[in-house]
Amino acid sequence: MAAASKDAAPALHGLAAGEAGRPERADWTIDQGWERYSDADHATWKTLFERQTRLLPGRACREFVQGMQELPIGADQIPDFRRLSEVLMPRTGWQIVAVPGLVPDDVFFEHLAHRRFPAGNFIRRPQELDYLQEPDVFHDVFGHVPLLLNPAMADFIQAYGEGGLRAQRLGHLSHLARVYWYTVEFGLLRQDDGLRLYGAGIASSFTETRFCLESPSPNRVRFELERVMRTDYRIDDFQETYFVIRDLDELLEFTRIDFAPLYDRTGAAPVIAPGELLASDGVIDRGDGAYHRARQSAGVV
Ligand SMILES: [Fe+2]
Repeated sequence: MAAASKDAAPALHGLAAGEAGRPERADWTIDQGWERYSDADHATWKTLFERQTRLLPGRACREFVQGMQELPIGADQIPDFRRLSEVLMPRTGWQIVAVPGLVPDDVFFEHLAHRRFPAGNFIRRPQELDYLQEPDVFHDVFGHVPLLLNPAMADFIQAYGEGGLRAQRLGHLSHLARVYWYTVEFGLLRQDDGLRLYGAGIASSFTETRFCLESPSPNRVRFELERVMRTDYRIDDFQETYFVIRDLDELLEFTRIDFAPLYDRTGAAPVIAPGELLASDGVIDRGDGAYHRARQSAGVV
């Protein structure tokens, strides 16, 4: 009985596990322990990989698909971070380092500022394929790593690390974090033949991959930096609004901006609710909001 209830409780990792989740090294890195993955772990990866790979043609941007093809990321095994770094390093200077789960903000930013992408080494349990409380190896590797081969994304994420350290000092982390959320995690972009996803939170999610592009419920709005910096987001459900950039190179433009004056302006302006549209928005799709309304009336959110 005790074993069954323990098994049903979510296993917490990294920061979420409190003191027990803190590794010895100050930078929170650990060995990936690739040799210790079980057959069941690799099988979970394979299930996730195969169903997600089937969904991505026509939905993921071409840079994502290309990155996936050029990296040692396949169906049969959880990727070995050392092999990923061997391909990334000479191309964009990035490496993948293993961490036990979420890490403190300053540790995360330090890694990104030095082109080290911290990836959780654990994999979700097979009975929780679609429920992810913490980013695991599938989210971090399948979702994030392919675009670390893209020079614009590679520079943007490094700049985000540097900017994060500065935003912390200035007391404006929430404003900067929204930029990361609505780009690196949940971003859409425009391609000649339509909208495509590039955000890792979407690319690694079986359900949100379709929702973000095909559902009539969410808004799809042209990305505008200060607008996004003021916009709250959902961490517990699909997004109510997705922001669309022109292409990945647009991210590079944000690396050249001094955010300090933006913090002053956005800090003084009211926060925008996740589903709210403004008269000044470049609306691509005005969502009907039906999904979140139904969730709300069911008491889910
Ligand atoms: Fe992520």
